[in-house]
Amino acid sequence: MVSRPLQSHLAQVFAQYPIEVAHGEGVWLYARDGRKILDFYGGHAVAGLGYGHPRWVAALERQARQMTFQTNALPMAIRERAAARLAKFAGLGLDTVFWVNSGAEANENALRLAFKITGRGKTVALEHGWHGRTAAAGAVTWGALEKWYGFPRTPFDVKFLPRDQPAAAQRMVDRDTAAVIVEPIQGMGGAYDVGKPMLQALRRRCDAVGAVLIFDEVQCGMGRTGAPFGANYHGVVPDVVTAAKALGNGFPVSALLLSPRVARELKVDDMGTTFGGGPIACAAAEAVIEIIESESLLANVRQVSTYIRSTCVIGPVTGVQGAGFLLGLKTSRPAKEVQSALLERNILTGTSADPAVLRLLPAYILNEGHVDQLHDALSKIPA
Ligand SMILES: Cc1ncc(COP(=O)(O)O)c(C=O)c1O
Repeated sequence: MVSRPLQSHLAQVFAQYPIEVAHGEGVWLYARDGRKILDFYGGHAVAGLGYGHPRWVAALERQARQMTFQTNALPMAIRERAAARLAKFAGLGLDTVFWVNSGAEANENALRLAFKITGRGKTVALEHGWHGRTAAAGAVTWGALEKWYGFPRTPFDVKFLPRDQPAAAQRMVDRDTAAVIVEPIQGMGGAYDVGKPMLQALRRRCDAVGAVLIFDEVQCGMGRTGAPFGANYHGVVPDVVTAAKALGNGFPVSALLLSPRVARELKVDDMGTTFGGGPIACAAAEAVIEIIESESLLANVRQVSTYIRSTCVIGPVTGVQGAGFLLGLKTSRPAKEVQSALLERNILTGTSADPAVLRLLPAYILNEGHVDQLHDALSKIPA
């Protein structure tokens, strides 16, 4: 990691990798210094289609020419079309879509809906979960209060459930609980699959007490597991799914997918946004889904993920966790050291809150040849 030059006008809040990206193509990054880097990090899980996919670029261009922006007060076909396509892609019966702009904003709205619907004041989240930097999303993010939260108090009570103890759901989710929010496969928490037993236990308990179950699929959704969402991957349907990151492939867009139980409570003015549902954002989301489906990218994610699991436990890697293309390579040495050694060999990977997990979030177009390059590089790094 390096710091920016002193004359930078950018807020100095991000640790920086030592590469300046000039352009990207597919799964490749081209650095200003001439290096060509194989990207297993995907702009932090955003570039699901890779860089510069021609049909995604064409969709944005087309929409920009036709209508760049229009308020939600004016009906637009692209908004409707993208919502229908997203609901169908998910296939979960969560058929009402509300468009917003970022992961945190989607979670903020999901939590707010849960409070409104239930009239209760408490939430349950999972240890090691990450939900964003706004007041409500930060409140349900594990460790935020101690590290960066900053607001004088959280807006509601939060209890954190150990992520490997489904039985604790019975005890911690009670009749004062408005919402339970969970990433089916945790991203920042180390590409950790929370697992079907935990999700089922939360579903059962939310049903029993009338709480709203929210799956934060900002990172693990939109095909990253090789299924449309973590909900499909584990066969557990929540009341609300939030999606972002790969949804726009780099154009900012996020969404809430709502069950009939939640949707029927909505009245005009209950939620709002200026930029959410903007036509270019919707065109981006529509193109992403069209490309995932027409290029059979979910099948590719499943196949190449299996190949990573079977070939990349080598060198400093002792095991693999996670799902699809949200994978955590468990490392015998600090993951940051392995990350640096890989970058010296022109391979970009991510880390996580777990210091012994290297995170892979590649584009869905990654192939086995690319994985062979990761394997070869790992095999040269001492354990
Ligand atoms: C699971 C999850 N939820 C929410 C967020 C917040 O998304 P955003 O940064 O778009 O607000 C993130 C971001 O990394 C995330 O991984």
